[in-house]
Amino acid sequence: MTTERVATVVGDLVNRINDAIAKHEVTYDEYRAAVNYLIRVGEAGEWPLFTDVFFEHTVEQLNQGEGGTIMGPYYVPDAPWLERPYVLPMREDEKGDPLILSGTVRSTSGDPIPGAVLDMWQADADTNYSNIQQEPPPFNLRGKMTTDENGEFEVRTIVPPYYHLPRGGPMEELLKAAGWHDFRPGHLHFIVSADGYTPLTTQLYFEGDRYLDSDVASAVKPELILTLREHDSPEEMDARGMTKPFFTTSHEFRLKPAG
Ligand code: BEZ
Ligand code: FE
Repeated sequence: MTTERVATVVGDLVNRINDAIAKHEVTYDEYRAAVNYLIRVGEAGEWPLFTDVFFEHTVEQLNQGEGGTIMGPYYVPDAPWLERPYVLPMREDEKGDPLILSGTVRSTSGDPIPGAVLDMWQADADTNYSNIQQEPPPFNLRGKMTTDENGEFEVRTIVPPYYHLPRGGPMEELLKAAGWHDFRPGHLHFIVSADGYTPLTTQLYFEGDRYLDSDVASAVKPELILTLREHDSPEEMDARGMTKPFFTTSHEFRLKPAG
């Protein structure tokens, strides 16, 4: 970043914070509480959480726009490459409703993209992310796969429920103090990439989720909401080799040509 850019952006930010302080006649006690709070956010390691909840959606909208959304703080590189038929790594008794997601990766002009990479991650049914929270084994519900010669893919996983942000730290304290809830709708995360295209970071949500309209991270877009179809007949379960009712849904990812 150039000196001019830093001076322009940081200068504007500082002016706006000063304007808010003046507008709301912030007292010395409030100012000291705020400074102490910001120090505690750092001590608790919650800056990525804090910034992704409050600001990432604006940066994302400017840089990706339609079809994309925020990455959030829980991406981990080096997820395992999966073999077809794709199933996200999971425990034998993984909780949650089974989900089969199929779809296509296309260019923005509609051409299917064979060999596109989908790097996928999600929370488990208890709302824990592997490699972040203690409980799930490493790389549980994280994996990489590619589209076939028609630009298509299919992966089996579970439907993640809506969840609340980590509690017990400064983030929860602030949300409670403001009377705001700390929930995100259930979602699947993706980074979709292919040679010659700009990678797309996005998430997919589920129709009917109670937090679609009030995501604490402001990251839901209408084009990212999946409709689930339930399959509960013995014939359907047999045909798919499933031992319990499952859901299917599909989505089309669109990549912009690079450059
Ligand atoms: C998430 O996608 O999991 C997430 C996004 C922003 C803040 C916290 C979590
Ligand atoms: Fe997430």
